[in-house]
Amino acid sequence: MVYYACAVSKVADPKLAPKGKLSYEWASSHMPILAKTIEKLEKRKPLHGINVGICLHITKETSVLATGAKRLGANVSIAAANPLSTQDDIAAFLATQGISVYAWRGETAQEYHDCIRSVIRNKPDVITDDGADTHTMLHSEKEFMKIVPMGGTEETTTGVMRLKALADDGILKYPIIAVNNAYTKHLFDNRYGTGQSTIDGILRATSLLFAGKNVVVCGYGWVGRGVANRARGMSAKVFVTEVDPIKALEAHMDGFAVIPVKEAVKIGEIFVTATGQTGIVRGEHIETMKDGAILANAGHFDVEVDTKYLESHSKSKREVRNNLEEYTLKSGKKVYLIGKGRIANLVAAEGHPPEVMALSFSNQLLSIIHIVKNHGKMAKAIHNVPTEIDSQIAINSLEAMGIKIDKPTEEQIKYAKSWG
Ligand code: NAI
Repeated sequence: MVYYACAVSKVADPKLAPKGKLSYEWASSHMPILAKTIEKLEKRKPLHGINVGICLHITKETSVLATGAKRLGANVSIAAANPLSTQDDIAAFLATQGISVYAWRGETAQEYHDCIRSVIRNKPDVITDDGADTHTMLHSEKEFMKIVPMGGTEETTTGVMRLKALADDGILKYPIIAVNNAYTKHLFDNRYGTGQSTIDGILRATSLLFAGKNVVVCGYGWVGRGVANRARGMSAKVFVTEVDPIKALEAHMDGFAVIPVKEAVKIGEIFVTATGQTGIVRGEHIETMKDGAILANAGHFDVEVDTKYLESHSKSKREVRNNLEEYTLKSGKKVYLIGKGRIANLVAAEGHPPEVMALSFSNQLLSIIHIVKNHGKMAKAIHNVPTEIDSQIAINSLEAMGIKIDKPTEEQIKYAKSWG
């Protein structure tokens, strides 16, 4: 991949900046609560002189957060949270905004990690990560062992899981706010955002009909619920696989057929993995699938579908459409993989719609400011987004949508606190 350095940035093509600017404007106009938060704080510059290092998917929505942090006074560096998710026009636009950008679509694994290293070399005071690759690098690579930021934030379920393991091992160097755990993040972003954009990715990659298809959703967490419900809304017959009995029961009572994966692979036509776990669709499953089965992954890492098996057990492989590879197995059966088994909603589509990312990134921005103000008194642990921030984001969103709600009466407040 050829890339061009613009000032300190490395992006695919600086000439794409005007297109990126249009996308930024479109996203910003659909993220009023984030835009308003930035506007309100701009004069006070709460991030004045602070180095903010960001590792997020470089999308139009992320450009609103990154330029917002800059407007609040921060020096911002950014790398992508996935080698295939960068929108090159956005990366080019960000590079024109005084932001150090190290990202292009189609990075090799080595380039992907080097881009994150470039962000860390700018000595961030606060790190905003998605998947925890940046946080783990700060805890494992010799070059970075002495760098101790004020704190960090984490965007996704898998990242929070990895950071909890780091904290449990007693080696977490700085406080981290688990943005994913905020109600105004996972209830909407993981469910409605990933639900819609994963279907969008499958549609863009395949252009096939959902109605009447057997769709298998592996994992009925926040993301799985979103995907399953949206697929049902398009008249697909949806099957759910789970390992958690409570989630399985929930899926059943939500009206989905719950079956083991080894049964699901015999009937599924479209598969979506959404577990955050490894080895969900394995070789033995792939061999049992129907001819023409389509595989998409919505989980953070490309470990849910065994792509190595596909590579090593296929007679041939070809790209039949953008982001859609056809594998012909030794048996002659064909199986189709979207976006190389990486997050289909960001590789084959544009990621979450701006309306949900306004919620997630309001949490991110306010959490970054919270760390700058309070890091001295925060334990080196995983913290939740403060409840006031979470609730205020919900209040601001309702206001922006013109939705009014009731207030409990004095009598109701008293009643809720009484036991007699
Ligand atoms: P979650 O923890 O709410 O749900 C995961 C579900 O998978 C759980 O119900 C769990 O019991 C189930 N599961 C685990 N192992 C399984 C197995 N072997 N078979 C079937 N089910 C299994 O997590 P959430 O928030 O739904 O996230 C799932 C993944 O999606 C994570 O990797 C997360 O980081 C990622 N994510 C991706 C986004 C995207 O844009 N594509 C956005 C948000 C999250």
